[in-house]
Amino acid sequence: MKKKNEIKKFTKHLTEVIKSKRQKISILKLNSMKKKNEPVAWVTAYDLPFAYVAERAGADMILVGDSGGMVQLGYETTNPVTMDEMIILASSARRGAPNTFLIGDMPQGSYEPSERDAVINALRFIKEAGCDAVKCEGGKRVTKQIRAMVDGGILVMGHLGLTPQSTPSFGGYRVQGKTIKSYDQTFQDALELQKAGVFAILLEAMPSESAGQIAKQLDIPVYGIGAGGMVDGQLVINHDLMGFYQPFRPWFAKCYVPEVAQEFADYIASLDDHRKIGREHRRDGLLVLAEMAVIKYIEDVKNKTFPRDDYSYPIKDEELERIKKSEFWLE
Ligand code: KIV
Repeated sequence: MKKKNEIKKFTKHLTEVIKSKRQKISILKLNSMKKKNEPVAWVTAYDLPFAYVAERAGADMILVGDSGGMVQLGYETTNPVTMDEMIILASSARRGAPNTFLIGDMPQGSYEPSERDAVINALRFIKEAGCDAVKCEGGKRVTKQIRAMVDGGILVMGHLGLTPQSTPSFGGYRVQGKTIKSYDQTFQDALELQKAGVFAILLEAMPSESAGQIAKQLDIPVYGIGAGGMVDGQLVINHDLMGFYQPFRPWFAKCYVPEVAQEFADYIASLDDHRKIGREHRRDGLLVLAEMAVIKYIEDVKNKTFPRDDYSYPIKDEELERIKKSEFWLE
């Protein structure tokens, strides 16, 4: 009985999604969600099929990350990916998700050299790829460029914590915000970004408590990837959510395919019965599996059941006690 009901629910969802035209989320809405403690659930996508899936599943936002350089284009790090390549990935994602707030990730070299470079390249994301906003890595060192973009009318998201474009200067992929020095630095950078006018900040790879403290003290939304459940929303890399990328899988990233595999198998088995399910679903396959996985992820984020401790970076009690003595920690 449960099976039948679930299938019915999913088919109803598909029909509703096909009929409805979604409204893009606004900055006003993001701010009000922070105030109401309603988590934002977003994913990366780098091409039409997955952006399409993300939009149908109801993701609040999509990031065309420079991680696409790795998971989509096959580079070993994010550093080689170029603006031209990012524009191709972002335009493809835009065509797949015309009604979702889309953020283009500024690749290394596209914003650091000068304010002029930053504005020109951010505008390429907006004008050529149809993005709604851009994201760039770094704190104080890039506030001049961020101010220039914001003054140019561009919505900019900041990115702190582990910033993959500068992994060599961190000594590799290292968790941030575990020591008082690293917490203070991240907190001060976050304040600088807020002053410079970013509409939100993404924190990557930090213990929940440090990231949550920053989210609590800032007026703008602070989201996390690998930063625990005390922030204002969650991002996950699409290829981690699907279990699609083998070379590197951060342990905070949860693959949702196992959780929906049975539901998918039941749904596919039910497709034989065209009279009940409708002929338009006859050729449903991987797209539906991917959509079920994204829907489950979104549900978990909204219900605050993802991430829990098993997908967050731990911090030892004595380390946390030391950080709590920071002048930037409010109880
Ligand atoms: O490129 C990307 O997808 C990102 C995330 C890792 C945060 O910036």
